[in-house]
Amino acid sequence: MTAPTPVAIDRVRIAELTRREAARLDERTAGSARLFERARRSLAGGVPSGYQARDPWPIYVDRGAGSRVWDVDGNEYVDFHNGFGAMVQGHAHPAITAAVERRLRLGTHFAAPTEDAVWVAEELARRWALPVWRFTNSGTEATMDAIRIARALTGRDTVLKIFGSYHGHHDYVMVSIGVEYGRLGHRDDLPSLPYGAGIPDAVVAMTVAVPFNDADALERRIVRLAAEGRQPACLIMEAALMNLGVVLPKPGYLERVREITRRHGIVWIVDEVKTGLTIAAGGATEYFGLSPDLVTLAKSLGGGLPSGAIGGTEEAMAVVVEGSVYQVGTFNGNPLTMAAARASLTEVLTPAAYAHLGHLNDRILTGCRAVIEGNGLPGYGVGIGSKGVVTFSPVEIVDYATFKRHQDKTLTELAWLYSMNRGIFMTPGREEEWTLSLAHTDADVDRYVEVFAELARELTRAID
Ligand SMILES: Cc1ncc(COP(=O)(O)O)c(C=O)c1O
Repeated sequence: MTAPTPVAIDRVRIAELTRREAARLDERTAGSARLFERARRSLAGGVPSGYQARDPWPIYVDRGAGSRVWDVDGNEYVDFHNGFGAMVQGHAHPAITAAVERRLRLGTHFAAPTEDAVWVAEELARRWALPVWRFTNSGTEATMDAIRIARALTGRDTVLKIFGSYHGHHDYVMVSIGVEYGRLGHRDDLPSLPYGAGIPDAVVAMTVAVPFNDADALERRIVRLAAEGRQPACLIMEAALMNLGVVLPKPGYLERVREITRRHGIVWIVDEVKTGLTIAAGGATEYFGLSPDLVTLAKSLGGGLPSGAIGGTEEAMAVVVEGSVYQVGTFNGNPLTMAAARASLTEVLTPAAYAHLGHLNDRILTGCRAVIEGNGLPGYGVGIGSKGVVTFSPVEIVDYATFKRHQDKTLTELAWLYSMNRGIFMTPGREEEWTLSLAHTDADVDRYVEVFAELARELTRAID
């Protein structure tokens, strides 16, 4: 990470550029505007998921191939969004397409296991060094079931999570996300607040959040909860936060988390929905050398099909194996998904693939850092594996409080608009990062850096 360079950018210039770029994007996406008018009549907000909504309208996509996507207006983009990090393989990868086509003709659903499901479980067991697996259809289902397993194992109700972290849309974890800075309070007593309406107070109260990168605060909160008779069943967390841009763990933090959770009999769930298969063959567990009790996967596991998985130690998964926890679902281990996952794990996400992703990420981060330094921008480039981001902040983001306090939201939004208008399909939202795919080339990542350099020049040019 480069040393942050705290140089103030003219806010008027940011506002002007934002207006210009928003108008330009509106002009380029008239077809999306028309489709939105139609969509909003029957599809709530014109989108299948709230996270796809955007003002004044979403960009509707027509197709993708390799590192490229095309919107309904025919605009071509290099895809750095990659389906919120689910397409590390690139779009329509021939090996995955062929496997899915083969499976289509053999029947797509039985609610009875296929050999592919066994193969995928074996391969995940090897990659994560965790022996027992089950499948789900999404990351949300995976984290929900993992928490239920932890509660069954411990006979406790309280869930610990990291403040500001997202783990899916079920009630247990839709807590203490997106909270305004002024409502945070003391870091030893961060509030449990619902993320949106419809979440029962009783469920919210059972989930307690602690700051990332602070093992002492974690232990203090555990001790207090124990004194209140609310010993936590589990701590669910990402090893590197991927929903506040990218926030890396401080040296020694994860080791201490493991030691503390073990000492207090707390099940450690490492949520690898974003990091699994995108930062290393065996995800964050391999990358950081972790030994969690349970991990959750989704996104890139399915090679573009809906997927999810829970892996664990024999001890942790015993409640599933002997059947006291119902880990179930009509579409769990769906044959199409399993065929796609098998092809992906065998032919696509190979050791050479991770070497390529590492090379590309080094290249794009090096390029972005040079632009930041050359123009004195208040920000820094950070990433691991296929994931990375330019964080606009004069200081390093280490947890939710520093993110909320220091991240420059308007500059982040301008960078998104600016990229979209120049053929860079970037993940929307101030919390997101890029995901590179195997189909990306040096030229693709260089294009990203060129566009960023153009933005930097416009931001820092003296106003005449
Ligand atoms: C870390 C993490 N966990 C869980 C989820 C939920 O996954 P899904 O959207 O597949 O339900 C997400 C989604 O972005 C995530 O980033």
